[in-house]
Amino acid sequence: MTTQPGWQRLKYARSTANTMTITIDEMASFCKRKGLVFPSVEIYGGMAGSWDYGPAGVELANNLKQSWWKFFVQDRQDMVGIDGSIVNPRAVWEASGHTQNFDDILVGCTQCKEKHRADHLVEDEVGIRTDGLTAKELDKHIKKKNIRCKKCGGDLGQCTPFNLMFETYIGDKTPENQGFLRPETAQIIFTNFKGVADTSRVKPPFGIAQIGKAFRNEIAPRNFLFRCREFEQMEIEYFIHPKQEAECPFFDEVAKDKLVLFTEDDQKNDNEAQTMTVKEAVTKKLLMPWHGYWLAIITRWFVSLGAKKENFRCRQHIKTELSHYAKDTWDIEYKFPFGYKELQGVANRQDFDLQQHIKHSGKDLSLFDEESKEKFVPHVVCEPSLGVGRALLVFLFDAYEFDHKRENVVMHLHPKLAPYKAAIFPLLKNRKELVDRAKEIYEDLKQDFHVFYDESGSIGKRYARQDEIGTPLCITIDFDSLEGGDVTLRDRDTTKQERVKASALKSKVEQCLRRGNK
Ligand code: GAP
Repeated sequence: MTTQPGWQRLKYARSTANTMTITIDEMASFCKRKGLVFPSVEIYGGMAGSWDYGPAGVELANNLKQSWWKFFVQDRQDMVGIDGSIVNPRAVWEASGHTQNFDDILVGCTQCKEKHRADHLVEDEVGIRTDGLTAKELDKHIKKKNIRCKKCGGDLGQCTPFNLMFETYIGDKTPENQGFLRPETAQIIFTNFKGVADTSRVKPPFGIAQIGKAFRNEIAPRNFLFRCREFEQMEIEYFIHPKQEAECPFFDEVAKDKLVLFTEDDQKNDNEAQTMTVKEAVTKKLLMPWHGYWLAIITRWFVSLGAKKENFRCRQHIKTELSHYAKDTWDIEYKFPFGYKELQGVANRQDFDLQQHIKHSGKDLSLFDEESKEKFVPHVVCEPSLGVGRALLVFLFDAYEFDHKRENVVMHLHPKLAPYKAAIFPLLKNRKELVDRAKEIYEDLKQDFHVFYDESGSIGKRYARQDEIGTPLCITIDFDSLEGGDVTLRDRDTTKQERVKASALKSKVEQCLRRGNK
């Protein structure tokens, strides 16, 4: 019998195991216990909306970002990347419209002075979607429903817009030196657009990607990594010639992929979301081809790394909810423990940003069309924009299982995402010959993979520790290993053990990583 790697058996293993759904707070406390994510500056009482990756978490997050970069940038001929600056002068954010439009509506309690996000209060108390409602409209709902302060039950004051950007000074504190921490990575792609286009030999359709920090002074950060004040984004601005809007050259690749679509009309008419192929959706004019392509390819990336497709749906923004720059936006939503929420936005930003930067900087950001011999300003037909933290939550929730037989959590992370690819244990730590051989194997494997060495506690405890952080393989060196050169290889998902030659370990780990590929 050929031994199937654990990853491929996962579907079966998970469907028969005792799965348990956990809340977002339970996930936060699990992540803290396992060194994945810590509340930031906790020794000083913590800071709402800020989280720090611990030793296992930083590996997981780096693997996630590398997988995204490989899939969306390095494996494609139509994509290039940049890494831009985080603090930018006011001019950039005036041009983008963020100084004027990037607001949430704040409402304060007249008694305890607690500040609330007005749309969230109304959403919770009235049970309606509040995207795009103005301060006046939210005020009306608050009065009509007599919504009170959530903290003390006191009267609420007037709803007022609150700009989410963190302000700073670049140099001394004079008004002309005002700057902002970027609230999205996107604008630094636009400010670099001409330089990239002139030096990279890319022609539309092509995309520019960036991974980096973004900052938003959220009124009410909540739900662990879901809504933070400091977070990372993985963004793509995908540029086309305006005449390419209706033709996506990659469309056939995804035409048969099925998506769950929740259109603007479905939402307005209280209909259920509909499942259909991308081709059907485009034929029915529910989706433009480019949007169909990007929604499908992004879903494929998530699923290829172990996310459960049944937890995803694509929701179209209703008109009033569209950002100031967007013509059409679809969110890929994920069924979080607190309901379906935005995981990733995919907006059609048209030429809004490039035109704004042309106007405000006075620089020519157009390209030359060899065919028509005319200049044109490219359009961003799709802007896939994803938070690293939200993506991590998806993989954490879909990997999490409490195994009652083992009496410990097993994180069924895709081997490519797992912080460590294998853990190496000598059977006993007080037997030098076992420890020496285990360290030799560790030294050898670490040349090619991120691996972990552990000699403390019983083998059962060591297995459990690795299950909990998702290490797909454990390798134990026992007395027989010293004689015959075989070691025990244990699979995280099935707990099956096999004896393999130490010389075959590298190819076993390789296989485990590669076979995880779909
Ligand atoms: N450039 C477009 C843009 O920034 P967005 O919908 O505001 O659009 C894109 O943000 C993505 O960034 C979201 O879908 C989410 O994954 C992530 N994101 C946004 N705000 C966040 C926050 N406060 N905390 C964590 N992630 C956030």
